[in-house]
Amino acid sequence: MNLADHFALAKEQLAEQGFAVVDNVLPNDLVVSLKQKAMAWYEQGLYRPARIGKLDEQQKRTDIRSDEICWIDDWREPELAALKELYDQLVIFARRGLYLPITHYEAHLAVYWPENFYLWHRDRHKRYPSRLISSVFYLNDLNSEDGGTLQIRPLGRKGIENIQPKSGRLVVFLSQLRHQVLATQKQRWSVTCWLRDDMPNSPIPIL
Ligand code: OGA
Ligand code: MN
Repeated sequence: MNLADHFALAKEQLAEQGFAVVDNVLPNDLVVSLKQKAMAWYEQGLYRPARIGKLDEQQKRTDIRSDEICWIDDWREPELAALKELYDQLVIFARRGLYLPITHYEAHLAVYWPENFYLWHRDRHKRYPSRLISSVFYLNDLNSEDGGTLQIRPLGRKGIENIQPKSGRLVVFLSQLRHQVLATQKQRWSVTCWLRDDMPNSPIPIL
């Protein structure tokens, strides 16, 4: 199945519950080489403790989130070609299928080491509401005993949805939905990408 077909199937889920789980969006060998690249960059010291908040309000709060991240600045890396194609197609789907005015995207790699977590939050910041769609692409498997569960409060109904990381799985959700990552027992590698509606590199706060 091609990417456009994958996203077309996700459309109904997104409209009804605000999130969709799409498995096997990339061939396994590409996911494996991406994970190897993510690990190599970690070894090279390119990850930093994640922060919360925006711009001047950024702070390190390991009581809220304890993962380490590496922003993707250069999409010309050969190992990133398939991932870039995935996000380019996701943008096309968001514009044509969901009628969202997406202008660009931003993405970072993330690793959660054992005991790491990220408490309840929204990716769409109150004063900088430019993130419309969030997506997480997982690079390894964790079963429910391993923790690392993504929990989302769905749109339009009560309760909590539990989603386990799985190699090649893409979770797409509306950035205004509350979600958290439960503490993991095993290492957890992923890429988070946000689709935005503002001008690249010029965030304009809502005052
Ligand atoms: C995030 C996030 C969820 C996940 O990076 O903002 O909520 O499952 N990630 O990694
Ligand atoms: Mn988030």
